Amino acid sequence: MRGLPADVVVIEGSVPGGEGFLESFSRELGASAVKPTYKRFPDGEAYVRLPGGTLRGARVAVVVQSIAPPQDSSLVTAMLLADAAKRAGFERVVLVAPYIAYARQDRVFLEGEPVSLDVVFKALYHSGFDELYTVEIHSRGSESRFPGRSRSVSPFRSLAALVEGRRAVVIAPDRGALERARELAEAAGLDYDYLEKHRDRVTGEVTVKPKTLDVDGMDAVLVDDIISTGGTIAKAARTLREQGARRVYVIVAHALLVGGAQDRLRESGVSRVYSCNTLPPVGGGLVEYVDVGGLVASEVKRSIGVA
Ligand code: R5P
Repeated sequence: MRGLPADVVVIEGSVPGGEGFLESFSRELGASAVKPTYKRFPDGEAYVRLPGGTLRGARVAVVVQSIAPPQDSSLVTAMLLADAAKRAGFERVVLVAPYIAYARQDRVFLEGEPVSLDVVFKALYHSGFDELYTVEIHSRGSESRFPGRSRSVSPFRSLAALVEGRRAVVIAPDRGALERARELAEAAGLDYDYLEKHRDRVTGEVTVKPKTLDVDGMDAVLVDDIISTGGTIAKAARTLREQGARRVYVIVAHALLVGGAQDRLRESGVSRVYSCNTLPPVGGGLVEYVDVGGLVASEVKRSIGVA
């Protein structure tokens, strides 16, 4: 019989999303999570082993593994888990990667570059993953380049509750994030707009073109897929503060926050960052995490037939 919860086993990756993701994901899916053995050989190579007995009888393996920093090692872990699951006899091996590294290099920007996202997708598919689920991939639609079934879950409608009822305007820091801002704004019943950003492809430096927005005396809510160094959001927050925004809040799917990002954001006037729990939490007090494990599980449930 197809689609009984007993048919499905959740396999805990070495980085199974952020805090609470695996728990709420498994609960919503109605499946139990098992933890493989993770070790490093003395030379640094990764070793994984699935726990034998608990997997017997299951048909679908759902591996929850963010391709998160350290990215290359997370990727190899995911590939090893896929191979182990296929060899253990699972008919369908599903990857739930709340965050997928390399997604921003989804085309050749400068001559001589690879398309890193395609490389990662091929590696995951050929290791044994039949399906892939992620949260808010950088370029919407790029998940379909995974050779098997794929889905990138947008969290922005469900994050609208964070700003509903506020005297606020929702702002995308660049045109690429406009659809995200629109989704959140419409769900929250707020107006939205965008800034014009330019990133130097060689130096990585970000400039935000001043554009007059009606934010005077209002709260501004910046919406983006990811904060890495915080450069994009800091530039946008400064522009908004200069134009009279009372407070600047940020809502993102993924908070990497590398290289002094939190200080950069605080200095630019950001009061709070809300992020989905797709990555391990960073300390420092600026970020509040919103659990999206249940949201992703609902999508997976639909696909694997667990009603
Ligand atoms: C770029 O288009 C992305 O949507 C993000 O705005 C960007 O990657 C964030 O990077 P950072 O925080 O380093 O500016």
